[in-house]
Amino acid sequence: MTPGRLITLEGGEGSGKSTQASRLVDDLRSQGIEAVLTREPGGVPLAEQIRDLILNTRPAASTAEFLLFAAARAEHIAELIKPVIELGQWVVCDRYIDSTRVYQGELSSIPAELISAVETHTVAPYFPDLTLMLDLNPAIGRERALMRGDTNRYDQAEAQVHETIRQGFLDIAAREPDRCVVIDASESEADIAGQISRVVARRFGLSG
Ligand code: TMP
Repeated sequence: MTPGRLITLEGGEGSGKSTQASRLVDDLRSQGIEAVLTREPGGVPLAEQIRDLILNTRPAASTAEFLLFAAARAEHIAELIKPVIELGQWVVCDRYIDSTRVYQGELSSIPAELISAVETHTVAPYFPDLTLMLDLNPAIGRERALMRGDTNRYDQAEAQVHETIRQGFLDIAAREPDRCVVIDASESEADIAGQISRVVARRFGLSG
């Protein structure tokens, strides 16, 4: 049996993660790889309920918010990511640990030691085999998100916040070059999908 893999897509609002995650799954399936598309927060029923809670009723305490994201992730790993990987299938996940590091760590000032401890106890050993960082000028991302009519609380945040998010993801990519690849998300949808397909083929030795 071939090993299961976990590929995550990360990036700011409107960077096209969801579209590209879905295209990547189609691409993998067309090459005979069984792949499951999922997202965070969410992916399994309890985690989707936590998603609604967090996004519709913003917790006042940033620690409460962090722990809700962590709870959703623990459930997602137990109920979907772990079993799918154990079957030798691939998981493509729209957002994962790096969103917590950036949004809760950088924006909400949750201490890095706490984030790291929770990763050690709830995520390990399900760290991503590959993380695609979709990088986009926040002004374009915001425009795209508004055009979709997608205005959650982060979309309404100011430009500086979006710049912090962008830089947060780029910093992680620079620190973990073996895991992360930065993708230029200003290209057309098809071009971005092409970039991703090539990166994945190279990383996992697929013929493409
Ligand atoms: P989405 O709409 O891109 O799926 O993401 C929902 C929001 O949740 C998005 O603004 C980022 C935020 N988020 C966090 O703050 N921490 C996390 O760990 C995750 C997965 C998402």
